[in-house]
Amino acid sequence: MTDINQFSPGLSVLEISYVLASVLFIVGLKMLSHPLTARRGNFMAAIGMGLAIVATILFHEKDGERIGNIGLIIAAIVVGTAIGWVIAKKVKMTAMPQLVSFFNGMGGAAAALISLMEFPHVSSELISRSGMANGYVLAILLGLIIGTVSWAGSMIAYGKLDGWIGDLRVKAMKYVNLAILALLAGSVVFIMTRDVQASSELTPFIYIIFAVAVVYGVLFVMPIGGADMPVVISLLNSFTGVAAAMGGFLYNNQAMLTGGILVGSAGTILTILMCKAMNRSLLNVIVGVFGGGGAALNAEAGTVKEISMSDAAVLMSYSKKVVIVPGYGLAVAQAQHICHELDKLLEEKGVEVKYAIHPVAGRMPGHMNVLLAEADVPYEQLVESDEINPDLPNTDVLVVIGANDVVNPAAEDDPSSPIYGMPIIKARDAKNVIVMKRGMGKGYAAIENMLFFNPKTRMLFGDAKSTLQNLVSEVKSL
Ligand code: TAP
Repeated sequence: MTDINQFSPGLSVLEISYVLASVLFIVGLKMLSHPLTARRGNFMAAIGMGLAIVATILFHEKDGERIGNIGLIIAAIVVGTAIGWVIAKKVKMTAMPQLVSFFNGMGGAAAALISLMEFPHVSSELISRSGMANGYVLAILLGLIIGTVSWAGSMIAYGKLDGWIGDLRVKAMKYVNLAILALLAGSVVFIMTRDVQASSELTPFIYIIFAVAVVYGVLFVMPIGGADMPVVISLLNSFTGVAAAMGGFLYNNQAMLTGGILVGSAGTILTILMCKAMNRSLLNVIVGVFGGGGAALNAEAGTVKEISMSDAAVLMSYSKKVVIVPGYGLAVAQAQHICHELDKLLEEKGVEVKYAIHPVAGRMPGHMNVLLAEADVPYEQLVESDEINPDLPNTDVLVVIGANDVVNPAAEDDPSSPIYGMPIIKARDAKNVIVMKRGMGKGYAAIENMLFFNPKTRMLFGDAKSTLQNLVSEVKSL
């Protein structure tokens, strides 16, 4: 522990600012866990980050000297803020995952840059001052490797989510990735066992490690596709947090350390939850192996049956229990408000209406919760998929609105399917199924969905918003 009395008055203010910033991060994160407080929570965490940056610029001292290059720092902040502001203002809700991936990658790149810059300056004097002996070099190396993997992986994830990078699956990929991991671990041991005084001679090795980590980041995300991207995105998120925490160690910066640890641990918890939700093993995520090998089922599907607007309105209005399954298409159509209007109308008619929420429905964690909260759908009406599944045989009508992969029975029936093993909402257990979508377009995993050909299923084709508007008028006229 650092003795607080050894600091000049300026540094004490700095420490207090860091503690305050850390508290704001923690409270902000807590508030992010509920849709009603999430916006304020985000704002609080942003204030914490602002405070940490301003305090560092004003009060940070090293060997009695204040921070230099203030002009350059402010110029970089202005340029970064302007770019971030414009992108965040313009981005569509449905393109949010790409944006998150891109920003996450930038965090990883920043952490890697810190390591690249700091390694040549390592000296025994610096190490003894840091009080961390070998921990100092280890923090640099881990920050470099984890930050680089996060940056390279996030850029590939960004391209995949945006649709301009496809999946690359080679059978031996798992072994290649394991070999690269072993190589990276070996390089860390190699550098850790050299004389730190020779850090400038070892600098070329640092660039080799950087290059190998780029290759690993690319290779481990390339094979992942179909429905499994959410797991990888949260894993990359946790990587960036851990890499940033390494920077916090190096600079003895409590705000950076707390921020990094929070992102790292929250991302790790989310990854574990996602792995559970998708029935995947964490080791397989890390070496980039997923699903059943990617053979997309091409169904000899048969024919689909359609339902008319008025029949759909009658069927729902005279039901006891209706379950709505929202998906990505509901978000694209921005049909959440009209959907809530429909559920209120049905409830007025005495129908019990629930929403079945799948953990990876949409394109980001909690996407459906956020979307429906925006339309003021009461939280109590939202039920997690594993909780609602046992109830589906007693459900009169299950209405799928713009969802596809999350109700695809291939996850249970077809071991060769890339989504095999992923838990789904068991739509086909309901007594009747109505599917609202524009046509026979596939879902994110790009595979056929036999639910649409099930004898219980009837299709209501059209854009979700206009279909729901027409349906609301029909239900009102009954
Ligand atoms: P998807 O499987 O992506 O299916 C969405 C369906 O919506 C499509 O089949 C499309 O069919 C329909 N659609 C599109 N626009 C529409 C509109 N305007 N009106 C009506 N329907 C419309 O969605 P899902 O079931 O929510 O599954 C999510 C998928 O994304 C999963 O595979 C998941 O793993 C993946 N993913 C999730 C995340 C997170 S964290 N949630 C992140 C990345 C990827 P038509 O074209 O025929 O209309």
